[in-house]
Amino acid sequence: MALQGGPPFKKFRADNNGLIPKQLPSSNPLKNAYSVNQLNGVVLPTSNISLKKLTQSGNTCINGTYTNNGKSLKTLSDKSKELMKQRKGLPIYEVKKDLVNYLRKNETNILIGETGSGKTTQVPQFLHEEALLKNGSVVITQPRRVAAISVATRVAEEVGCNLGGLVGYSVRFEEMVSDKTRIKFATDGMVLREAMLDPLLKRYSWVVLDEAHERTINTDILFGIVKKAQRIRKEKGKEPLHILIMSATMNAEKFSSYFNDCPVLMAEGREHKLDINFTNEKQDDYVLSCLSTVVQIHQEAPVSDGILVFLTGQEEIDNACLAMSKIVKRMDSQNCLAMKICPLYASLPQHLQMDVFQAPPLKERRVIFSTNIAEASVTIPGIRYVVDSGKAKIRTFNPSTGFDVLKVRQISQAQAWQRAGRAGREANGTCYHTYTEAQFEKMTMMPSPEIHRSNLSTVVLQLLSVGVTDVMSFDFMDRPRQDSLLKAIEQLLLLEAVKKLPSGELQLTEDGRKMASFPIDPRYSKILLMGPKYKCTHEVLSIVSMLSGEQVLTTPSGKMRHVAVAKHKKLASVEGDHLTMLKIYQAFKASKQNKAWCHENFLNYRNLVYITSIRKQLSELCVKAGLEMLSSSDNMDDIRRCLLTGMFMNVAELQPDRKYLTLAHHDQAQIHPSSVLFNSHSSYVLYNEVIHTANSYMHCVSWVAPEWLYEVAPEYFRTHHIKANAAVYAKKK
Ligand code: CDP
Ligand code: MG
Repeated sequence: MALQGGPPFKKFRADNNGLIPKQLPSSNPLKNAYSVNQLNGVVLPTSNISLKKLTQSGNTCINGTYTNNGKSLKTLSDKSKELMKQRKGLPIYEVKKDLVNYLRKNETNILIGETGSGKTTQVPQFLHEEALLKNGSVVITQPRRVAAISVATRVAEEVGCNLGGLVGYSVRFEEMVSDKTRIKFATDGMVLREAMLDPLLKRYSWVVLDEAHERTINTDILFGIVKKAQRIRKEKGKEPLHILIMSATMNAEKFSSYFNDCPVLMAEGREHKLDINFTNEKQDDYVLSCLSTVVQIHQEAPVSDGILVFLTGQEEIDNACLAMSKIVKRMDSQNCLAMKICPLYASLPQHLQMDVFQAPPLKERRVIFSTNIAEASVTIPGIRYVVDSGKAKIRTFNPSTGFDVLKVRQISQAQAWQRAGRAGREANGTCYHTYTEAQFEKMTMMPSPEIHRSNLSTVVLQLLSVGVTDVMSFDFMDRPRQDSLLKAIEQLLLLEAVKKLPSGELQLTEDGRKMASFPIDPRYSKILLMGPKYKCTHEVLSIVSMLSGEQVLTTPSGKMRHVAVAKHKKLASVEGDHLTMLKIYQAFKASKQNKAWCHENFLNYRNLVYITSIRKQLSELCVKAGLEMLSSSDNMDDIRRCLLTGMFMNVAELQPDRKYLTLAHHDQAQIHPSSVLFNSHSSYVLYNEVIHTANSYMHCVSWVAPEWLYEVAPEYFRTHHIKANAAVYAKKK
């Protein structure tokens, strides 16, 4: 849809015929200023500082004035006093009084305000300062753990408390809260887990659903859960539950109508100017265009101006970092500034992720190459420039094949705005989108709801455990596809996590209830549950922890590569990748978590330490679920039998042409080269997932004996799956 109004935009050239940096563009081709007022349906506030209530009959503007809260100032630490000055300059602060009045009046509100206007950091503090929390507390959902942790850290500084005091956070496997915590930032997944134990969310008087435009599965379920909790609390005459939905870029009408036509508050204005640029021409290679744009900025901007570049995935980012460092080396001879290049993606160890939130280096320019984990909510110190490739890697589940597809796709307009918004937070900023305005206009306005492109078995399990028995008629903002829901239910029925009542309603089984208490894929929690039966609770716990953690093998490039490969080979297990993981974990434990040992064996020490902490928490959950903690470390067959109890749907069979065919969907797939079983030809293998890129590859593979299949899941393997497979077999012959 077309952009409305606004002066013309700036154009720039991102390409230089692939010759970086020998032949940089000779002149700076920036033209035409661009600022956007409003997108159809996507509301983007601008200019004057005011708070507007949007009504169907039109906009009413109510200018607000700030009233100082002298009482709390006295108790603030020096740092927070200093920050108070900054807080007062934020557009949201200017309208505090009016905003608070509106929030007090309505049980549900939508708040739209530009990126950087102060929604995430200020509004929760207002609720506390103005006693809107009453006896309860507020939880603010964040789309990702980095966002939750970094925002909580900032707000604790502003309030002048330690993290875990008045302000805390809660993310998977990590919590910083105490009895004193009244303002808690949490990933949406964590809030959902709380709702399982307490569907009415009794400890909260406010739930703030931040960055609601992202439409993650968890947020979508939370929408329905909080709406229901609010209604039931009202019906039962309990303390009201207030709901606030926030974003800079959202379809206000759609959200308002879902939330019973609640008012939409609009905080206009931004503190710092944001300059938006699109390219003159379409670019062939977005990575190259981004690198080239960074080079242009690097040559012109002052050293303290950081650059944040949005690319798509780990490998691409690592390569871009390498390319950039080579470019800078060549530029050094031209007296260019030094550059500190940092990658940022989800599988990076947490301490490296959090590093970018430290103050930037003084004598170097910081350039961060990130996936969309830095797209929303965060403020990265020193960032004045954003370079946006317009692409992201999106995981999509295809219910007809059972494959997860990871593909680089075009982002939405809302995401492009969010990315731009990462500049211009501490000072004026500039964004370079490395695509044309015409391409921008063709992008969808909003990201598609994740619930429409995911494996829904976790979703269904979560819904059932918060008491939603009629999953098919849950109050979804956008209903998932019927076939995806049915597929998810089928998987849970196979895992015996749910059963169908004669009435057609679904009911969690005892196992299902236990499975829902683990923050992991139902297939993995089923394996843990079966650990005692195969006398290997400890072993499967280690394997599942390794599967839930991050990559532990490090493979350097260059000369050391073959040394690393040889070391890794020594740790490999002939049974496959799962038992290799177990072997690595056990060796790490035997080394007494020795850092030097990890280094010698090309293993990532921090990731292994992290996995140890995941294991500890999962182990506590096992004990809570009443599982017997047994061990049979020498029985490799039983461990794989146990793995099959959760993953029997993930078995592939070797074909005469030496390719594999998955039993579930009869699709061809190969063992990924990273597997220890690559080039081996066992008749049956168990795989964790099939990822469909140019080829279909099975990741994380172990061989299994055919008789185990019948032992573990007799029903499953006796029905159409095997027969259909035999038919395919016969046809081929
Ligand atoms: O949520 P929204 O995008 O409206 O803004 P915010 O996250 O509340 O941040 C408001 C402003 O606070 C930013 O634009 C920064 O100026 C400042 N801030 C900061 O300097 N450092 C942080 N870690 C967080 C916010
Ligand atoms: Mg925010």
